[in-house]
Amino acid sequence: MSTHIGAAPGEIAPLVLMPGDPLRARWIAETFLDDARCVTEVRGMLGYTGTWRGHRVSVQGSGMGQPSLAIYATELFRDYDVQNIVRVGSAGALSERVAVRDVVIATGACTDSRMNVIRFEGLDYAPVADFALLRAAVEAAEAAELSVGLHVGLVHSSDSFYPARPELVARLAEYGALAVEMEASALYTIAAGLGRRALAVCTVSDHVLTGEETSAEERERTFSDMVGIALSAGTR
Ligand code: HPA
Repeated sequence: MSTHIGAAPGEIAPLVLMPGDPLRARWIAETFLDDARCVTEVRGMLGYTGTWRGHRVSVQGSGMGQPSLAIYATELFRDYDVQNIVRVGSAGALSERVAVRDVVIATGACTDSRMNVIRFEGLDYAPVADFALLRAAVEAAEAAELSVGLHVGLVHSSDSFYPARPELVARLAEYGALAVEMEASALYTIAAGLGRRALAVCTVSDHVLTGEETSAEERERTFSDMVGIALSAGTR
């Protein structure tokens, strides 16, 4: 096992889907995977391994925010030789073009986190998705003929769900940020540094401009679309 993941060596698949919520990890494993088995429950951050259409796949909760995701992503890549992590999460829409329930695939991520300021000593690194995963996800989403909108572009990975300076988030939106979430920037950076692949696919759970929110049932349905996209992209 690693410091925060209780799985034995070999118990985690080369592809990991990563929701923030550990109970979502359980729901994905029970709903989408065959022969799913819980491989870690350290701190309640559940992880499962099973198969999807004959491919071994794991699902691991990340917790909320970049420091928490960074722990799990680093240990999965470094200690379990994971090759691909696809985050499946929620995001708040920042653009008038993006509606609640839509899917946003993150080409890259801005952030207000200090993690990369420290890592790069102030040099302004630009965290981006792995292009092969990105292309596969866009193709899977187009093939799925979703009933909701599909957007491919920049997200903002914030350290604050309740921002102290909302006007700065609005400025990022002016410069093309489509949605705000809390993890993609760290995921993309850690994957790049370790020579692995990562992608973040998000469903829009709320709209920052209008305050509109989705219901729990809607979230489950749109979450299913997103998991299908992530599984197709990751197993290509
Ligand atoms: N902010 C940050 N993360 C989020 C949001 C938000 O408004 N909605 C869903 N994840």
